[in-house]
Amino acid sequence: MIKNNQTIISHFLLLGLPIPQEHHYLFYALFLAMYLTTILGNLLIIILIILDIHLHTPMYLFLSNLSFTDLCFSSVTMPKLLQNMQSQDTSISYIGCLTQMYFLMAFANMENFLLVAMAYDRYVAICFPLHYTSIMSPKLCVCLVVLSWVLTMLYSLLHTLLLARLSFCEDNMIPHFFCDISALLKLACSDIYINELMMIILGGLDIIIPFFLIVVSYIQIVSSILKLSSTRGIRKVFSTCGSHLSVVSLFYGTIIRIYICPSANNPTVGEIVMALMYTVVTPMLNPFIYSLRNRDMKEALIRVLCKKNISL
Ligand SMILES: *[C@@H]1O[C@H](CO)[C@@H](O)[C@H](O)[C@H]1NC(C)=O
Repeated sequence: MIKNNQTIISHFLLLGLPIPQEHHYLFYALFLAMYLTTILGNLLIIILIILDIHLHTPMYLFLSNLSFTDLCFSSVTMPKLLQNMQSQDTSISYIGCLTQMYFLMAFANMENFLLVAMAYDRYVAICFPLHYTSIMSPKLCVCLVVLSWVLTMLYSLLHTLLLARLSFCEDNMIPHFFCDISALLKLACSDIYINELMMIILGGLDIIIPFFLIVVSYIQIVSSILKLSSTRGIRKVFSTCGSHLSVVSLFYGTIIRIYICPSANNPTVGEIVMALMYTVVTPMLNPFIYSLRNRDMKEALIRVLCKKNISL
């Protein structure tokens, strides 16, 4: 019985966003503008940090890693979304779908780990200012980044391999705008018990531990600020940490809502909007949240531009 139903699926259909046909061009233009802003904003940050020697500190090296990750993260979903909005054919090959899922998970995870590293960096800077340079040595920073990449790669590889062993039946329509792991699991017709177990255990650990570490860092930071009790110090600390906190709450708020309490059936419009938040909006806002409020970045921009003028 089951054997007859199993056909080898060579491609999936991405159903895309629930947008009425008459608003298609408006949203196409909006997403294109957002994608270009993401690319340009993050590239600008990476280039500034590479060019300006004053920004070669752990905080900015993590930030440039974050920008790089954001750039890749939105490039995994956006070009395909834009292409699908324009054409009638919204299919994606089986391999393409798994590849997209792998990289999406990898970059989302990398962002997750980098946010922890950045919170730890702020914690050391504020709670142990005198030992900051000796604790956050270049060696430790490189170790943290390399460790994050390795964990990220293993994590996404595990989920992708587990998904690759599943067989899919006739239904190949993904009611989403990218190859989302939970949407794919719902299409599978073999047993997905192990996949779901791993999603709950590893996925839970992978979101909850970093989130917990970040919260602890910020509790420490806030309690040490309250002890400080000089208004100037407090304002300075809030201006550096406030930007970081807004990124963190946007990112975890949407991820926790989607992956810890998913709906049983097809993703609702609300869930798709939230997926848009963390795949499109967060990578776009990160550079602005960090650089618009940050004097060091503005000064670096001026220095880099002026140097260019002189050398020309
Ligand atoms: C990422 O961080 C590491 C360690 O701080 C640094 O050496 C590297 O240049 C950064 N990479 C990017 C792309 O910014």
